[in-house]
This record gives sequence, structure tokens and C-alpha cells, in this order.
Amino acid sequence: MKEYGLFVNGEWVKAATGKSFVSQNPANGEALAAFALGTQKDVDKAVQAATQAFPAWKNFPPPKRGEILLKAAAILRQRKDELGEVVTKEMGKVIAEGKGDVQEAIDFLEYIAGEGRRLLGETTPSELPDKICLTLRQPIGVVGCITPWNFPVAVPCWKLGAALISGNTIVFKPATLTPLCAAKLIEIFEEAGVPTGVVNLVTGSAEEVGDAIVRHPKIRSLSFTGGVVAGKEIYVKASSLLKRVGLELGGKNPQIIMDDAHIDTAIEGLLFGAFGTAGQRCTATSRLIVHEKVYGEVKEKLLSRLKSLKIGNPLDPTIDVGPVASQEQEKKILNYLKIGINEGAELLWGGRKLTGTPYDEGFFLSPTLFEAKHGMRITREEIFGPVLSMIKVKNYEEAIAVANDVEYGLSSSIYTRNVYLAFRAMRDLEAGVTYINAPTIGAEVHLPFGGVKNTGNGTREAGTEAIHEFTEVKSVFVDFSGKLQKAQITE
Ligand code: UN1
Repeated sequence: MKEYGLFVNGEWVKAATGKSFVSQNPANGEALAAFALGTQKDVDKAVQAATQAFPAWKNFPPPKRGEILLKAAAILRQRKDELGEVVTKEMGKVIAEGKGDVQEAIDFLEYIAGEGRRLLGETTPSELPDKICLTLRQPIGVVGCITPWNFPVAVPCWKLGAALISGNTIVFKPATLTPLCAAKLIEIFEEAGVPTGVVNLVTGSAEEVGDAIVRHPKIRSLSFTGGVVAGKEIYVKASSLLKRVGLELGGKNPQIIMDDAHIDTAIEGLLFGAFGTAGQRCTATSRLIVHEKVYGEVKEKLLSRLKSLKIGNPLDPTIDVGPVASQEQEKKILNYLKIGINEGAELLWGGRKLTGTPYDEGFFLSPTLFEAKHGMRITREEIFGPVLSMIKVKNYEEAIAVANDVEYGLSSSIYTRNVYLAFRAMRDLEAGVTYINAPTIGAEVHLPFGGVKNTGNGTREAGTEAIHEFTEVKSVFVDFSGKLQKAQITE
């Protein structure tokens, strides 16, 4: 089995402890590769390397940084099939989505490379004669990127790509479930020409490596995607050091189906939104809010489509839903199924672990549909699995009230052919992302991505907003009058 070290200062090195851990395929338990179990000492070394590399990278022309990102995108494009397969083997999403994960990384790197020729500031007149004012976007310094397992190529590229084009150097800690995808990315960035020490990879646990990154005084900014509990902890720890923090946390994303919707399209969208990536996206649909007039029809059609979903080996292109990513995930989801039943939700479909061949070897759950009442725990808490709760409402107002009455606000969707309702929903849904007649998943990289309420702390990834997460704004005043001029002094 191949063994990967940490990538520090341009070299693959052993962890301080010499210990390692193994990444496994959630579909069949196959061991994929071994990875160094990093420690605080290793984080120190990575920060040192990133600190040393910072001055030169900061002054490296941004368009040239963009060229390196374009090269990385080109390598990813060339190796898309192979890497898509690695994504599928390491986290279990079906192969079309594994390749989609890589495609999203390519899209983002190509998009953000162009920012090297923008990184726009403002110019504005001065209140004094012979003086101009402008703003510059400057890198923050050493940044920590802590990434999740559900998009093991795309999300690291959002963070690393935006941090790099802005001129920061990086300590990167990927999720412990998907270090192989991270190691492959590092190889690609190195091949693309990222200079020594600019990107450093430290694999290992959240408790040790993640904590060391969060607490390190020389890491000025953190970007984290993951669960709300971990996100809050990071925010609290980092705030005492006045670090910049970007958080992208959970969701409890609703899809509303109004009585005038095109029902078949709405159900196809729902199946993709709720059961794509086995429901393990922050954007996954976990609540289906249906107008009472079409509730019966939606329920019947949905049940018949659910029966036809194929669950199995995610490398097989005919499969609709693969395994969940780990035993821990499986346990957590099974526990929510129990909670749903105990609180009186009616199980309409699924609700169990699948057994027999090939399911016994992996973490396979049947896609689940509950008929639920708004307010039950399964309608409020993020499950992060293939579990959907269906809720009946009387009208548009109730649909919006139910949709908004949760602690999260990432993605949201409404299916309606009523143009008035569509525009009202764009305004009324409390979420960072709203879809009209499209599922809650599948955001495109050139628009800002993030959420309101407990989904985050107001930062956005992707789009031009990504640059804001990773830059400081400097205001510059240029006086060409040749004499002392005093602002605000009137006498
Ligand atoms: C995530 O689940 O953390 O909109 C990101 C989507 C993807 C990104 C999801 N483009 O579903």
C-alpha cells in the first residue's frame, strides 16, 4: 500500500510521531493508501515554511499566479476521469458526481485565475486638491484551510485557489476521510508550478492538527467548511486571537412544490437534490414542503420513483445512490431514523441499512422518505444523509414560514409557474442561495456561495466574494500638491 507523508516546504516528509492512518473505500472497505498522522509540531513546521514563502509569493505578479492556477486546471482536466474515480473510491459518491467534483474544481480554478488580472480596488477623489485616493487588495499572510470530505476536490480548490490568487500562503488540512484526494491535489499544484512552501499539507485529526491550525498565532485567517458544532468551536477559539474566519456550515434546505408546479420536473429535481451524493451535501434537500392541493399526487409519484432508484457500487454508472462516507456517518443517520420514528413521523419508504451482497461490505442505507410535521427534530436538524421529510402546507405563506423556521439558511428551492410567487420567493426565502424551478444543489462557481443564520458567519466562497475572504483592503492617499495639506482641519 502506498504511504503518503506530509507535504511541507516542497517535500514529502514523515510526521513527527511516525504514525499513520489508512483511507478506506466506504463501498467495500478496501484500503486505498496510508497517510501521516500529523501533530502540532508538524503544523509548526508547515507554518514556518508558509511564513518563509510569503514575502516572495505576495510580490509575485497576480496574473502569473493565475497562470499557475490555469496550469493546475489543465492537469485536472487531463486527469479528470482518474481523479473522479479516486473521489468515488474514497468518499462513495457515484462516478458521475465524482467526476462532477473534479469538474467543479476545474471550473473554479479557471474562473479565479482571471482574478489575477482584476483584484479590483477603488479609485476616488480626495477632499483636498492635488490628491487622489485608492484601495488595494492585499494578501492576509499565512492562511489555514480546513476542508470537508463530501467535496474532496472541489472545496479544497475553492479555498486554495482563492487564497493563492490573492497571494497568501497556506497550511491545508483535509478531512481524515479523504486524504488521498488531497494528496493528489498537492501533486497537481506542485506540477503546475506553485513555489516551495506556498502550499503545505498536514493530514491528521481535527483534535490535533485542526486545533493546532486554529490556535497558531501566525495563521492570520481560517477558512472552514464542515459541521456547525465544529464551526462554532473554531470561531470561539479563533476570535480570542482576532483571526479572520470564514465558515460554511450546515443546511436544512427546503424544496417547496406549489400547486401550479410542473410536478414531474419538481420530483426529478427533488430526487437529485435529496439523494444525490447520498444526501451528503450542505446543499442537499432535506425538507419537501408541498401545497396541500398536490400533496397526494406528489407523494404517489415520488414513492413510485423512489422504488426505481438503484443503490450499489458507485463506480457502476447505472447506480443512482452510493454508500454513505463512513461508519460514523451511517450510525448518525440510523440514529436519526430512530428519532424520526419515535417522534411520530410516518416512514413512507426506506429507513434501514441494506444487507446482502454487495451491501454488507460497505455503508449502504436505503433512501428514506418520512411524512413529518414541521417542528419534529428530523425537520430541524441537519442529518447529512439520504433522508427526506415531507411536510404538507396550505398556501405560499405557510410554505415560506415553514421553510424559514430553522436555524440554517444555505440553499432553498421553489417549484412554481406563477411568476409573482417566484419573485416573492426570491425575496422571502431566508437563504444564501435560492433556486426557482431547480433543485437545491448544483451551485455554479462564479456566484457567491454561503448562507445566512447558523450556516455561517457572513462570509461567502466562490464568485468574486472569494477574493474578499482572502484579502485585506488597504486605503492609500496620494498627495501630489507638494505641500502639507490637512484633512478635516478647517481653521
Ligand atoms: C457542499 O456541500 O459543501 O451547490 C458544497 C452544490 C455544490 C457545492 C456543495 N456546487 O451542491
